[in-house]
Amino acid sequence: MHTNLSEGQLDVFARDGYLLIDNFLEEDIALQLLEELKHWKEQEAFRIAGIGKLTQHKIEEDFRKDEIKWIDRENCLPATKVYLQSLESLMKQLSREFYLSLKDFESMYAIYPEGAFYKKHKDRFQQQAHRIISVVLYLNIAWEEKDAGELLIYSNKQSIKVEPKFNRLVFFKSELLHEVLSCNNTRYSITTWLKDQFNEVNFL
Ligand code: OGA
Ligand code: MN
Repeated sequence: MHTNLSEGQLDVFARDGYLLIDNFLEEDIALQLLEELKHWKEQEAFRIAGIGKLTQHKIEEDFRKDEIKWIDRENCLPATKVYLQSLESLMKQLSREFYLSLKDFESMYAIYPEGAFYKKHKDRFQQQAHRIISVVLYLNIAWEEKDAGELLIYSNKQSIKVEPKFNRLVFFKSELLHEVLSCNNTRYSITTWLKDQFNEVNFL
């Protein structure tokens, strides 16, 4: 699957630091992707997300309450593979257009159980200096306002509220402050970071 952003979309990203794309994947691929995420949940492959990495790894329940599973790019299920291919082409285009020298990416499935949230934070900070762009694909079929769990992005111009609707992609500069509001229903997504450095095996 090939992703190609239009000139207009590139301009919006350059101006705002974020971009939203609805119906990003073909519908049946997106549906299958959700099944693959749920498959790993059934396999009990998810764990409570932490803050920081390796030795700093600790679980901060007051800060975030999502569950995650890192995606193994070499051994992933078919719809996940299709999605990763489209991320690869997105990465290449953004790298080319904005001279970002993006080299690699890392992705994880995420589940926010009812009541979960992720307080205001940046994805790019001292220990994660190589995360340049954050990408999230939402997989919530028939999301409604009462389900909440919106993403708030604080850009220098204005903040925006992104409803986590099925098959909606959002990406933003990882240095921007953002937060996930508490959700009233289980919330499914895949988060990816496009990086200017090759991955090390540092998240085990
Ligand atoms: C993250 C994050 C946003 C979202 O995983 O770091 O901010 O909307 N996710 O899920
Ligand atoms: Mn984040």
